[in-house]
Amino acid sequence: MRIDGRDFRTIWLDEGGRDVWVIDQRRLPHRFETARLTSSQAVADAIADMTVRGAPLIGASAAYGMALAAAEDPTDAGLERAGRMLESARPTAVNLRWAVERMRRHLGGIAEAGRPAAAYAEAARIADEDVAVCESIGRHGRRLIEQARKPGKDRIDVLTHCNAGWLCAVDWGTALAPIYEAHRAGLPVHVWVDETRPRNQGASLTAWELAREGVPHTVIADNTGGHLMQHGRVDLCIVGADRATRQGDVCNKIGTYLKALAAEDTGVPFYVALPSSTVDWRIGDGLAEIPIEERGAEEVTHISGLDAEGEVRTVRLTPEGSPAANYGFDVTPARLVTALITERGVCPASEADLIALFGGEERAA
Ligand code: MRU
Repeated sequence: MRIDGRDFRTIWLDEGGRDVWVIDQRRLPHRFETARLTSSQAVADAIADMTVRGAPLIGASAAYGMALAAAEDPTDAGLERAGRMLESARPTAVNLRWAVERMRRHLGGIAEAGRPAAAYAEAARIADEDVAVCESIGRHGRRLIEQARKPGKDRIDVLTHCNAGWLCAVDWGTALAPIYEAHRAGLPVHVWVDETRPRNQGASLTAWELAREGVPHTVIADNTGGHLMQHGRVDLCIVGADRATRQGDVCNKIGTYLKALAAEDTGVPFYVALPSSTVDWRIGDGLAEIPIEERGAEEVTHISGLDAEGEVRTVRLTPEGSPAANYGFDVTPARLVTALITERGVCPASEADLIALFGGEERAA
């Protein structure tokens, strides 16, 4: 991604090759700030407080957290401790566990003295692979956008939820990668952006990304999508995922399920874009088995934005004393998913199709 003429990924190393830099996503869209993470604990904190967020980026961050851990204490016990700390930073996105386990496996076969260098090299591989995987998702997904074009309509309307763009990954993103590909290829794509309460990743992050790429878009209140679908104003939905099961159930930001229901009712294709690192091969039934993060009530009771003086302020929305609940994610059953868009191609959301695409090696991981 390019920001003010400079190329950025969402995570990179400093010149010394030890500390980790990230974009502080809590400040967007009003401030573009970066943060330096100097310890494995700082990486775990950045994941927990959502300085970094989005399933693939949480995975890449955890990998660099393990690299910092290897520099701090390369013993088996040290890596084990750091791995547990990082894994517990957030519960739902499975890329976190995937990255920590991959780092542990990789380092397990290497003598302690060689572990720091090996850990940084493996974390860099994870980050580079993520970029390639997301680019490939973009190429596969772009075809679906082309296919959804309606004769006589001057634009292709895509609805997306939350933020599954550059900022959720190392670059490109998942659900937005096909949109960027389509836009760059000259297709007249327009994006309906769900605001995505309570943290507003759609209104804050997706809208910011799309604006920077010059992709036409409109931010809508979360409950608008069904109405637009009923009136033929959505040609397809593309969302991301934080965890999918081997049978194709998909867990994504809260509110995704309601969009999938509306899409099913109105005959709008509902696609989920995800890298294979988001598939949890150990579980089948998403509703029963995926842990759903519950976050602080203040994310629901309060909201932040720019005031007239250009200062970011947080204000209360709800009456003092009204309790609030904050479930971060929901599960969309495979039957409501038209297809999955993966780095290896588009496939139906089913165990047989996922296995046909990914075979045994990822399932064992
Ligand atoms: O709570 P977040 O912001 O880390 O949630 C993750 C998301 O942004 C979405 O659920 C997204 O659609 C999937 S991440 C590829």
